[in-house]
Parts: sequence; structure tokens; C-alpha cells
Amino acid sequence: MIKRRFTRIQTELPGPKSAASLARKEKYVAAPLATYAPFIIKQSEGALLEDLDGNRFIDFSGGWGCLNVGQRNGRVTAALKDQIDRYLHTDFTAVPYEPLIELAQLLCERAPGPWQKKAAFFNSGAEAVENAVKIARAYTRRKAVLVFENAFHGRTLLTMTMTHKAKPYKCGFGPFASDVYRLPYPYPYRNNLRPEHIERSLLSLVDPSDVAAMVVEPVIGEGGFIVPPDWFLPTMRELADRYGFVLALDEVQSGMGRTGRFFACEHSGVSPDLICVAKSLASGLPLSGVVGKSEIMDAPVSSGIGGTYAGNPLACRAAIEVIKSIDEENLVERAIHVGDRIKARFDALKDRFEIIGDVRGLGAMVGMELVKDRVTKEPASEETSKIANESLQSGAIFPTAGLYGNVLRVLVSLVITDEQIDEGMDILQAAFEKVVG
Ligand SMILES: Cc1ncc(COP(=O)(O)O)c(C=O)c1O
Repeated sequence: MIKRRFTRIQTELPGPKSAASLARKEKYVAAPLATYAPFIIKQSEGALLEDLDGNRFIDFSGGWGCLNVGQRNGRVTAALKDQIDRYLHTDFTAVPYEPLIELAQLLCERAPGPWQKKAAFFNSGAEAVENAVKIARAYTRRKAVLVFENAFHGRTLLTMTMTHKAKPYKCGFGPFASDVYRLPYPYPYRNNLRPEHIERSLLSLVDPSDVAAMVVEPVIGEGGFIVPPDWFLPTMRELADRYGFVLALDEVQSGMGRTGRFFACEHSGVSPDLICVAKSLASGLPLSGVVGKSEIMDAPVSSGIGGTYAGNPLACRAAIEVIKSIDEENLVERAIHVGDRIKARFDALKDRFEIIGDVRGLGAMVGMELVKDRVTKEPASEETSKIANESLQSGAIFPTAGLYGNVLRVLVSLVITDEQIDEGMDILQAAFEKVVG
């Protein structure tokens, strides 16, 4: 029996009010915008959600990793209310405003590296990555872009090309952008990649003196929560320095305290040339950024980068408070605690259920990979989806990830309480017992 303090399932899912709304969604919202939860949200707080029918959930998806400081963080909502009474939009390049300048300073102060830094803002993670490539091309006057297996960088033409998983992200959407070359990514559970394999692969694909940028996730997110070995980022830094290309880290999912450092790359001691941030940057408001070496950031021609809504004042106000909350609420340390607590439960599940092949993670970026057989490591995709669904129906929302969708991952708000973690883990355990017990 699960002792419930935070979750409450009092109707079939979807309940009648959610069902009515979802029927309208079917009729009016384009079908490819497929939804995961079988209910409609009414309100939220911290890591908890309530639907239109009064059902309550613990949300381990955190809006796909956008809610590190929690839903409706008090500092964020207060700043937004204040900003609403001042001005909503000018376009920074028409009439500049202070929140964007303050946010740029805060990010530059936090990005690693002893050099002078600057920042630029955009609307989505994909836009940040795409602009990092544009900036690197302008700086190096080279064209080629290096990316990795299992990468997810977004859905624009360039970032879709840079993304690895074909279905659903690239399916039917070609032709793709040119000059993008894919290298193998170390995946300790499934391959034994060595540094020389990556360099050999690079040299066989493209002349390194044509490479503008290497774009890399310090921990693979959507591609399956893959934590590379310690040698990986230092080796990529060394390759970038040797061949004169820009090292751009995609910290859209791993940044903003998620892994137990403000930026995940800080675990490795590597200072990249550029860092892309989004998701938890503005607590779910559409905002992304590129921060990095001033001489690189300044390379495009005047007005060469930007966008009408880029760095919207409301989103910048939210982001300033997100950064202050991360500092004042010690959320970077909290990420380590949250990750350890969840990992301990995942490890205990692994001892009980053969289907769990691997438990891994960095800070609160924790996942488990499910396999049909621990020797062949055949992905257990269907079972993963059944367990996630069973858990969701019982009140705990866990997203999946990976090329085969066989990774259960945690992107929960870092403000989740220990009691909420425990209740969510009890629900997940019951789901394992029901599906594969
Ligand atoms: C690592 C990474 N990069 C880029 C993106 C794209 O971000 P957006 O969906 O905001 O365009 C994502 C989104 O999941 C991501 O995880």
C-alpha cells in the first residue's frame, strides 16, 4: 500500500473535465503535438500538479527540465507581476532594457573560464544552439560542425540535422543542412570508446581545418541520460585547441544547477568557448542564451544575430530570479541530495528487477536503462513505456528517453521535498511490481 500524502487519484484518467478538454484538443490542435499526460493541468506548486478533476501528481518531468526552481517559484512570480506593470516588450535592439543587461552579467559571472565573456539571448534551446553555430562560423570563417551520436539539439533545420534520433525528430522533414558531421559519443554501458576513436572518426569525416565548432552535450539528455567518462570533455577541449575550432557546450538540459554544479561542464574542469542555456533558465518562460568568450561572441557583423522576442523583458526578469533562487536556496547542493536519494531507490530497484540494466546520472540528472536481458542488453522499450504509464496513472510522472525509449529519466524540480521523492519512488516501485513483478 502506498502511503499517499501528495498524490491523489480520484477519477479514471482522464477524468470527465480533462476528457472534455482533450476532445477539443483532438479537434483543434494539430495531431503531431502529441501529449504525454492523459489529463489537463489546473494548477501547480513546486513539484506538484493538480488536474481539472482534482487528481494530484508528483511531476518528475519538471516540464521536460524547465522547472529547476519549482513551479511558480515565489521570487519569479513576484518579479513577473512587477514587470507586467512596467513594460512587456520593446525588442532590445529597438529600445534596450536593464533586465537583459543584468541577466547577461549574471551568466557571464557564472560561466567558467578566466577570459572576458559576453552573452546573447534568444527564445528556445534550438535557437541558442543554432546561434552558437552562427557565431562560431563568423569567428572562425569555417563551415563544418561536429556533433555526436545520441545528441538532441532542437527542431530547426540546422539543429534537427544536428540531432541524432531520426524518428520522430527528422522523419519526413528532409532535406537536411549540410556540413554537419557526427562523431561517436562514449556510452559506458554500451561501448568502450577511447579518445583515439573520436579523433580517428573526426579525421575520416572532415578536414579539421574546415571545422567551425564542435557542439556537445556534457551529459546526453533526450538521447538517454548518458554520462561520459572523465576523459571525454578534456579530450574534446584538447581537440578544439589543436585544430582551432570552437568548443560549444549544449547545456540546455544539463545547466542551471541540474547536475550539482551550475553548469555540468564544471565537473570536468573544462572551460568551453561557448555555452548554450535554455529550459530552466527562465523557469519555463521562453528564453535561451549563448554565453562565452567575448572575442567569439563579438564576431558576427553588427545586427547579425537577434530576433524580435529574443530576451523578452518578462523572461529576463524571471531568469534573474531563477539564478538568485539557485544561489539563495542552495539548489546546486540540493541537486546532489535529490540525485543521491533517487539513485539509492533506483539502485534498490535494480537489485530486485532484472529488467533494470543500468542506473546512472550526474547530480539530479538521474536515469535508468531497461533491457530485456542483462547480457544482450536488448532495449526493453515496451516495458519502459508500460511502467512509465502505470506510474503516471498512479500519480507520478516520469519521462522516458533514449533512441529506443528504454530509459526512465528524472528532470524533477530541485525544490522537491524528501517526502515527495519517497512517495514518487514508492509509486514507481509499485509500477515495476505490477508490470514486471
Ligand atoms: C540538450 C538540448 N538542446 C536543445 C534542446 C532544444 O530546446 P528547445 O526545445 O527549447 O528548442 C533541448 C530540448 O530538449 C535539449 O535537451
